Amino acid sequence: MADVENGEADLLYFPPVEIQNEAHVQSMDQYREMYKKSVEDPAGFWGEIAKQYHWESPQTGQFLSYNFDYTKGPISIKWLEGAKTNICYNAVDRHVENGQGDKIAFYWEGNDPDDHGKITYRELRAKVCKFANVLRNLGVQKGDRVAIYMPMILEISVAMLACARIGAIHSIVFGGFSSESLADRIQDAKCRLLLTADGVWRGSKLLNLKEISDEAIAKCRQHGHEVEKCVVVRHLSPFEEQVVEGDGDSVEEPPAKRPARQLRIRWHHDYDLWWHELMEKASDECDIVWMDAEDPLFMLYTSGSTGKPKGVLHTVGGYMIYSSTTFKYVFDYHPDDIYWCTADVGWITGHTYVTYGPLINGATGIIFEGTPFYPDAGRFWATVEKYKVTKFYTAPTAIRAIMRYGDEFVTKYDRSSLKVLGTVGEPINPEAWLWYYNVVGNKQCAIVDTFWQTETGGHVLTPLPGATPTKPGSATFPFFGIVPHILSEDGKEIKDEGEGYLVFSQPWPGMMRTVYGNHERFETTYFKKFPGFYTTGDGARRDKDGYIWVTGRIDDMVNVSGHLLSTAEIESALVEHKAVTEAAVVSHPHSIKGECTYCFVTLREGYEFTEDLEIELKRMVRTKIGPFAEPDFIQNAPGLPKTRSGKIMRRILRKVAVGNRDIGDASTLADESVVDLLFDLRPDNV
Ligand code: WT7
Repeated sequence: MADVENGEADLLYFPPVEIQNEAHVQSMDQYREMYKKSVEDPAGFWGEIAKQYHWESPQTGQFLSYNFDYTKGPISIKWLEGAKTNICYNAVDRHVENGQGDKIAFYWEGNDPDDHGKITYRELRAKVCKFANVLRNLGVQKGDRVAIYMPMILEISVAMLACARIGAIHSIVFGGFSSESLADRIQDAKCRLLLTADGVWRGSKLLNLKEISDEAIAKCRQHGHEVEKCVVVRHLSPFEEQVVEGDGDSVEEPPAKRPARQLRIRWHHDYDLWWHELMEKASDECDIVWMDAEDPLFMLYTSGSTGKPKGVLHTVGGYMIYSSTTFKYVFDYHPDDIYWCTADVGWITGHTYVTYGPLINGATGIIFEGTPFYPDAGRFWATVEKYKVTKFYTAPTAIRAIMRYGDEFVTKYDRSSLKVLGTVGEPINPEAWLWYYNVVGNKQCAIVDTFWQTETGGHVLTPLPGATPTKPGSATFPFFGIVPHILSEDGKEIKDEGEGYLVFSQPWPGMMRTVYGNHERFETTYFKKFPGFYTTGDGARRDKDGYIWVTGRIDDMVNVSGHLLSTAEIESALVEHKAVTEAAVVSHPHSIKGECTYCFVTLREGYEFTEDLEIELKRMVRTKIGPFAEPDFIQNAPGLPKTRSGKIMRRILRKVAVGNRDIGDASTLADESVVDLLFDLRPDNV
């Protein structure tokens, strides 16, 4: 902390000379020149970049057409309309055809350090083709949605690319979501096919994904939605096992060779199919379906402030250009790089920077199944040493958690291969930034704090490793094509220093096009607050040197360990408990997670607030949303601070949560006495 207090956070950190000398962009002047072109002539700038990829046929209309102003008509964003391409072809086949077939596409590093594998581009192509044929044989066609609920294994990328190859829309649900969340997402997207795995080890925890999938399928059935088939990757359950007959009641209890892998799953003969059995019979040649640049590529659900998750929809052409271009410049990609993004493919970071961005560039990446703490807190750096990783990308929450274990876990491994260290997911505090820079990077690496969202498809504010002098905690400047503005509540532009709403005034190729099945919600959420601008939902400050500092969400979202959660969604989970009549959830600072949730619950007559109830309520949120959403604090609230019109004043609840009695103006409250009561009832363990 001392460094930060002494003002070190405001010092500039210049790009290391060796990185700068070989970088794609080597100075701020060069950055500014490219940036100027990108925003003044987007069609020229991106048109030049688009030439690097294969297009089966050129666009038929304009390169870019859009409307960002809902007062003038529906919001629409179209890049390269009418052009035909395929992202799977560009990510895989193109490299095989260019003589790169023997290059490693992915190393796979298992949860257990002794478990590992690798796959070349040629092998990846064969697997993707086989699985694309499997999908076709199951009746999947262009435009169909396919749900994927898988761990971090090679098959998850194979499944995505196979969908993309035949024009099916993948909808990946992160493996930490509950069966209920999975079922909601399957139904919203009307997926008839679910791809999953038997289970996965995460550290010393065994997750039975198949069981959760079964529950989700049953829940869908209860609501009249049929998941016709479930394809299961055999990742943990032993191969010697014979499937026991019986519909759902049969339990596989295998004579495991490796007890650590033993897993019991139920087999439903009406819908379950083994991945490996289907793959065995499938051909490894599969025609490409040429897609319109504006055809959907995938959807990915993100929390919404109303509580119902939104299916963020991305399209083929723009996302292809943007994911690969941001990857190239932000990680300063070179062909001999070993690149490792630790994010789960179930989140957007994994979509863009584990699968698509790196593969389109022909890079060698790592898919990591495990956690930073297994077998110990040195796992990241042991793995960096093992593969000689050059570019590394992780989340601030992971950095803060590892920091606590001391420097020896880092310094005992050789990290001399590292060049660029990235972070994403939440604001990084200067203390964690400096530790990443000084200890992990040994002052030899460029740090890139990348700000972006599920909606933006790729980085939007970020340093470039060879060009941008960085400040710890600032995402610095816009990427090519991004025009940020900071607006006051009444929509006035804050030109110089100042703080306000972070918005963008021009489309970029990788931005979302709509909310699946609900374009109106897309318009309302992102375009209604400030006509003519895309609103991020984040606040930002511009400093005297023009650096942008993202300050965090200014809507009712909480960012827990880099995962956005909607307070409304947690509130509705809590009120499903019979003891709770009303709930209000606010953000609370947390030293590792960044933020966590603090819940106020008002109980029904006759119920008492006990430790058991607290445990039950936490469990309720786990089962409704997922384990990662479990609240940290729950407080009894016989009353909530409300205005006379009945609106809960969350500003005051946030003060109660941190125990700060300086609540400011409370004159609009209907009953001021509830505030004192809440302070009195605040638990001591916070
Ligand atoms: C929200 C988006 C983009 C991948 C992971 C999260 C926050 C993300 C940063 C950063 C400050 C950040 C924002 C944003 N966020 N990166 N570098 N600095 N805040 O994707 O779940 O869509 O969350 O994460 O609040 O709006 P997501």
